[in-house]
Amino acid sequence: MTTYHEHIPVMLNECMEYLITDEDGIYIDGTLGGGGHSKKILSLLGESGRLYAVDQDDEAIAAATKRIGNDSRFTTLKGNFGYLATLLPPQIHGQVTGILLDLGVSTHQIKEAERGFSFQEDGPLDMRMGNLTGVSAYQVVNNYEYEALRDVIFHYGEERASRQIAKAIIESRPIETTGELRKVISEVVNKKFEIKSLARVFQGIRIEVNRELEMLKNVLEQSLEVLKPGGRLVVMSYHSLEDRIVKRFFKAGNFDGKQEKDFYGNVLSPLQPVTRQIITPSDEEISVNPASRSAKLRVAEKTEGGGS
Ligand SMILES: C[S@@+](CC[C@H](N)C(=O)[O-])C[C@H]1O[C@@H](n2cnc3c(N)ncnc32)[C@H](O)[C@@H]1O
Repeated sequence: MTTYHEHIPVMLNECMEYLITDEDGIYIDGTLGGGGHSKKILSLLGESGRLYAVDQDDEAIAAATKRIGNDSRFTTLKGNFGYLATLLPPQIHGQVTGILLDLGVSTHQIKEAERGFSFQEDGPLDMRMGNLTGVSAYQVVNNYEYEALRDVIFHYGEERASRQIAKAIIESRPIETTGELRKVISEVVNKKFEIKSLARVFQGIRIEVNRELEMLKNVLEQSLEVLKPGGRLVVMSYHSLEDRIVKRFFKAGNFDGKQEKDFYGNVLSPLQPVTRQIITPSDEEISVNPASRSAKLRVAEKTEGGGS
């Protein structure tokens, strides 16, 4: 592995304030990355506290393990958080005090050209965060039919020029690198919004490649199985598609956001929000770490009867 590009943990103090309610509890960091949040969690836990940290990326696990060093309270688990319940030892199901999810990609993944996440670096079209057997960006760009490609760009990239971009991509096949893809997109979008359009199309392809929304829904549902009553779910999202899923789930325990009520009109949601408003980074944090600017933090607590 080349050197791990430093990832500055976002809203570190805010996350800790809401996550840690018992220093001897069992915690999950579902998105270990460079280990910034995990390291802080460990510094706040007592001797019998435990932290299980998940990442699907070998480079993240290796870098975080090196950073944290030997700590018997800390266990890393390589895998997709979409299968959280299966990754965790069964004896801690229903015992977990808090789960942290810091969604999306790390600075390392973006800066490492070979991973193919960035339109600012020239690299192979890959974008797989983990499992190297899945669909890569190359396949989405070069094999998807027009409608499927247009929908990825429109729904996951939220890019309005999806039709023109999909058409241009298909006409320029084969496209081998992120640099070539960038050129094709730049030629058809409004110059004024070129960077935004590039970011949106790359985001859309990345979400498709990693099945990010599906995996987010899975982990939210499974969190109910592993959290204990009163256990907390602390989630940081970076775009509106993710935030909408989190918001609805926190409100209703499902992805329509429709709350079920009992005969007396009492809400039957398995979660209750801990904060009334979403939490966002301070201006000071954004000035030091511009990558934090779109972060939205939501916190909910499992109710007594909540769970699956
Ligand atoms: C924003 S970074 C986390 C940074 C971390 N909080 C820190 O302080 O260094 C997101 C990490 O989550 C991982 N990740 C994203 N989606 C995942 C998934 N579905 N399953 C497992 N890991 C995932 C990525 O590989 C990446 O390393």
